[in-house]
Amino acid sequence: MSEHQTPLDLVRLRPVDGPVACARPDRLAVASRWFQEHFPGEVLYAVKANPSPWVIDTLYAAGHRWFDVASLPEVELISSRCPEATMAFMHPVKSRRAIASAYHDHGVKIFVLDCEAELQKILQETGYARDLTLVVRLAVSNDGATLPLAGKFGATEAEAPDLIRLARAHAFELGVSFHVGSQCMAPSAYRAAMMEASRLIARAGVTVDIVDVGGGFPSIYPGLTPPPLEDYVKAIEHAFEDMMVLENADLWCEPGRALVAEAVSVLTRVELIKGDAVYMNDGSYGCLFDIVHARWSYPMRVHRANGELSPQTAPFKLYGPTCDSIDSMPGPYELPADLKEGDVIEFGMLGAYGTAMATRFNGFGDVETVTVSDYPWLSLYDQPVLASPQSEPAAEGSVVPFTRLRRRRQRLIKRR
Ligand SMILES: Cc1ncc(COP(=O)(O)O)c(C=O)c1O
Repeated sequence: MSEHQTPLDLVRLRPVDGPVACARPDRLAVASRWFQEHFPGEVLYAVKANPSPWVIDTLYAAGHRWFDVASLPEVELISSRCPEATMAFMHPVKSRRAIASAYHDHGVKIFVLDCEAELQKILQETGYARDLTLVVRLAVSNDGATLPLAGKFGATEAEAPDLIRLARAHAFELGVSFHVGSQCMAPSAYRAAMMEASRLIARAGVTVDIVDVGGGFPSIYPGLTPPPLEDYVKAIEHAFEDMMVLENADLWCEPGRALVAEAVSVLTRVELIKGDAVYMNDGSYGCLFDIVHARWSYPMRVHRANGELSPQTAPFKLYGPTCDSIDSMPGPYELPADLKEGDVIEFGMLGAYGTAMATRFNGFGDVETVTVSDYPWLSLYDQPVLASPQSEPAAEGSVVPFTRLRRRRQRLIKRR
């Protein structure tokens, strides 16, 4: 990966054929440290949010040893790069081959399930192993989430008690998990889900060793400023105290977005302008999937290799490179009025579900990665929030130092 101080340095240095992912490993390390120091339990990185090797390596170097994997390729990726990792296979529907290979070839012992048929698959493919950690995924409300994930996975209130009881009979350790939905804007959603889980555990009448509160921790985007992450941790800690679980039960979380969102921006080149229509070399089949499909807003700014940009702005519509008309972003987006072919549009806060979503449709989808060391627009971690989507990053040297706030890991007992 080539290294540059800022994305603009790169744009001035050479043509950006793009798209180019600008990686900020130091920002990922800050987020990683925050979770490790504040969350009173194990932090499993949800690999699906961004499986780029530099992300995995940065997290591992920063001390992350636990990973939430959802497929055999993700198992293989972590296995190949992180020798001391503990992997949890958290997709509720796994192929038999994936279960068998994860267990026998890669030492995965933690599996999620949300129905009896999946439990039977896990038991059969692991040879009725006696060392399994089985995690029952529960269906919970996604009302606090910007991107709800409800409706596809999770044992219902009616199903869960029997399933928890059945899994207990086969588990060396038993957990429950849920997902409150992505970009959860309400810390209280975690409490509500944990209280629901507690009721279901009580109805099952068995002991539970692990409570896994899943992902959903937010990042910050234009128009989506969540409460401080400390509020989420506090809500979870208090709810955990109130749950009907063993006194020495473990608490886990599986953040994806919150860990990696700030750490990447993506550069796209303007290929053509027709009136107010801007045709770019990245779009809904590339790193900008969520702009189109989830109507997500990302901060944007424009770079020009030579010359100044007009201070005047005008409204534009954006189009991605493929031939599909879905590949369009009507906006309108306020961009410099003199925007022209060759200018580069940078989309910030795209570390989560950005490069990870890119397809090869129409022959596009090659994303180069470079490292940069400027500050992202917005941060939940160590500087006051800059509200404007067009605002410049903080000047070098103005970053407020990360404050160390070590919390008690009061109930965490390492048994593995
Ligand atoms: C099981 C599971 N865990 C964790 C995550 C990460 O969620 P987020 O990126 O919202 O933190 C996901 C995302 O889909 C998931 O399905």
